[in-house]
Amino acid sequence: MANAKKTTGFFCQECGYESSKWMGQCPGCKSWNTLVEEPVKRISRASGISHGQTAAVPVPIQQIDLKQDDKILTGIGELDRVLGGGIVPGSLTLVGGDPGIGKSTLLLQVCYQLAQTGQKVLYTSGEESARQIKMRADRIGKFAKELYVLCETNLDLIRDILEREKPVVAVIDSIQTMYRETVSSAPGSVSQVREATGLLLQLAKGSGIAIFIVGHVTKDGTVAGPRVLEHMVDTVLYFEGDRHVAHRLLRGVKNRFGATDEIGVFEMAENGLKEVTNPSEYMLNGRPQDAAGSVVSSVVEGTRPILLEVQALVCRSNFGIPRRQAAGTDFNRLNLLMAVLEKRVGLQISDHDAYVNLAGGMRITEPAMDLGIVLAVVSSFKNRAIDEHTLCFGEVGLSGEVRAVSMAEGRIKEAKKLGFTTCILPAANLVKMKKIEGIELLGVSNVQEAIELIQ
Ligand code: TYD
Ligand code: MG
Repeated sequence: MANAKKTTGFFCQECGYESSKWMGQCPGCKSWNTLVEEPVKRISRASGISHGQTAAVPVPIQQIDLKQDDKILTGIGELDRVLGGGIVPGSLTLVGGDPGIGKSTLLLQVCYQLAQTGQKVLYTSGEESARQIKMRADRIGKFAKELYVLCETNLDLIRDILEREKPVVAVIDSIQTMYRETVSSAPGSVSQVREATGLLLQLAKGSGIAIFIVGHVTKDGTVAGPRVLEHMVDTVLYFEGDRHVAHRLLRGVKNRFGATDEIGVFEMAENGLKEVTNPSEYMLNGRPQDAAGSVVSSVVEGTRPILLEVQALVCRSNFGIPRRQAAGTDFNRLNLLMAVLEKRVGLQISDHDAYVNLAGGMRITEPAMDLGIVLAVVSSFKNRAIDEHTLCFGEVGLSGEVRAVSMAEGRIKEAKKLGFTTCILPAANLVKMKKIEGIELLGVSNVQEAIELIQ
């Protein structure tokens, strides 16, 4: 049969890859079983401009007016920073994340803040009833009358309403529940999600309404994931975290209006999300004092250094094969670092169980944590506590060498702010650095030297 008559195709629900036949693994994003058959909408080029549409006119670049101060502050500092200084009118922002992580709560709080300052906002939900939204809103606070709630999933209707109401900011929660009648596939499919986002993009650009879209990250491939629309929107934010720990990271992945490497830290509380303006202090809260196997290391999230406690428990194994467990960090990395300790330092730990945990539920794979893991393991193995005002960071190589890491100065300054007095860092970082008052800097070039410092 001729290809032109084909009316269905196979779309990856994860990344949107299109294929003419079914495949077990998506060639685009390599995920399995995510290709689903959907109708294909072909637009013929011959039809030209449809009725009511006017062609855009080229404009000389000097005549384009840039109003600098027109970003809308949300009043939530952690979010404003990730957004690059506030909401840009007419922008389309995707907020992605696992179900239940707090996307709806965050956006409702944005609505709360904006409504409080007298700006009209419209919150459209396809997931919850008006009563459910009201119940959530009651936990957050007393809302001003400028917040309007709409429960609707038909996007063409929503567009009419938005054009009529002209709010400053609109929220669409979630894109996977929205549909357009002109697309025959089910809501949540790749075609629907793309079409819906396309419509919202046009609407945002045409009307100047800033639109936030919620997109659930899905694991089973039955609903199209946010990655399908990442390229269409202006800004992509991901809300990350473990549902069992209170803190959440809001990470900027793409931003047409600012830097992308920013993160915001929040804590889920009884009455909505709270900003965590000092994440290091938050993470180090409740740290044991004078305990062997506990050491503070640092990670850089975006451009922010955050101090974290690394805990290790090393004990003699009762079985033939010792157990190793890593929570919050890479298991293989732990094995590698234990092997380095055995071979390069001569510690007899191959017959010991080792458990490593990053306190606070963060998940970090940054190599700068290596030295922290090594020292925590050694401290537990020797049952010797490390001074609690000591910070250590550095990447550990296979020959036991300690290699330089990025942003050493920022990490040290963060530690100094929290009253740390000593810092063990890669010697290669130290030579390039100016002296920092109030904190003793100890450069090490291999693991052995670092261990000698904590004896
Ligand atoms: P929600 O915003 O509904 O997540 P998403 O929209 O990403 O699916 O967040 C739901 C979770 O947050 C739920 O487990 C309840 C919890 N929560 C609080 O702990 N405190 C609060 O004030 C609110 C509103 C929610
Ligand atoms: Mg929700």
